Amino acid sequence: MLKIENVSKSFGALIAVNDVSFNLGDTGISGLIGPNGSGKTTLFHLITGFYKLDTGNIHFLDQRINGLPPHIISRKGIVRTFQQTRVLPFLSSLDNLITAAPNQLGENLLPLFFQPSKVALQETQNCEKAESILETLGLLKLKDSPAGDLSYGQQKLLEIGRVLMADPKLIILDEPTAGINPTLIRHLVTILENLRDQSIKIFLIEHNMPLVTELCDKIFVMDSGSLIFSGTPSEVQNNSRVIEAYLGRMADAADA
Ligand SMILES: Nc1ncnc2c1ncn2[C@@H]1O[C@H](COP(=O)(O)OP(=O)(O)OP(=O)(O)O)[C@@H](O)[C@H]1O
Ligand SMILES: [Mg+2]
Repeated sequence: MLKIENVSKSFGALIAVNDVSFNLGDTGISGLIGPNGSGKTTLFHLITGFYKLDTGNIHFLDQRINGLPPHIISRKGIVRTFQQTRVLPFLSSLDNLITAAPNQLGENLLPLFFQPSKVALQETQNCEKAESILETLGLLKLKDSPAGDLSYGQQKLLEIGRVLMADPKLIILDEPTAGINPTLIRHLVTILENLRDQSIKIFLIEHNMPLVTELCDKIFVMDSGSLIFSGTPSEVQNNSRVIEAYLGRMADAADA
């Protein structure tokens, strides 16, 4: 599915991602962990075309995608959320989803004038799809509320809803549970497991270790820009290099 080959990215003298290679294979839910500043978000920006690679290649479904702009990568099926939540605060929750639908005929003048019934049909379909996604997310009762009035956690769910409007094959989530309450986290876990059951692949950055080990089938670990380990949750938890680089530091921080 997603294959990363010798990918590097520097900012001036800082090597943010250093010769990283891995293959997601057929894994349902994959996790990317690592200390702050280890290059996780930069790697996600590289995969989704928001940053250009310095070296290396990225393949998705056997096609090279590096060098393509973000909207084309998204059309190929890799759709993402951001570490900072990005909903459209003044639009309703429903409209936030509807505006995330790709290839909207109504945005082009020609179909709008010459195929108005086709445009109307697509708008109805997008509206129905958006309502069904809001229902899955437990947000249907808030469909007319401006997204800015939703709680932070609900906005994060809404962002996932915007991703789902694009019929993704691979969803890339940057810290989806950061700052949301335990009840919503449980809800999110169920949503992600349901998506996996529908054969949608998920690749997420997450600092919540118990959640990562519960949810992920495979975990990739970065430290200082490099991939230092990958394996099953139990392999990662028992690997001395990972414990030293990451889990140990977390334990130190918790003790402080
Ligand atoms: N646009 C940029 N310009 C300059 N330096 C950057 C830029 N983006 C990231 N960096 C630097 O690259 C390194 C990796 O950052 P990145 O955001 O990828 O880390 P991260 O693993 O996502 O961290 P966190 O867990 O805190 O989100 C950091 O030292 C960061 O300061
Ligand atoms: Mg980050």
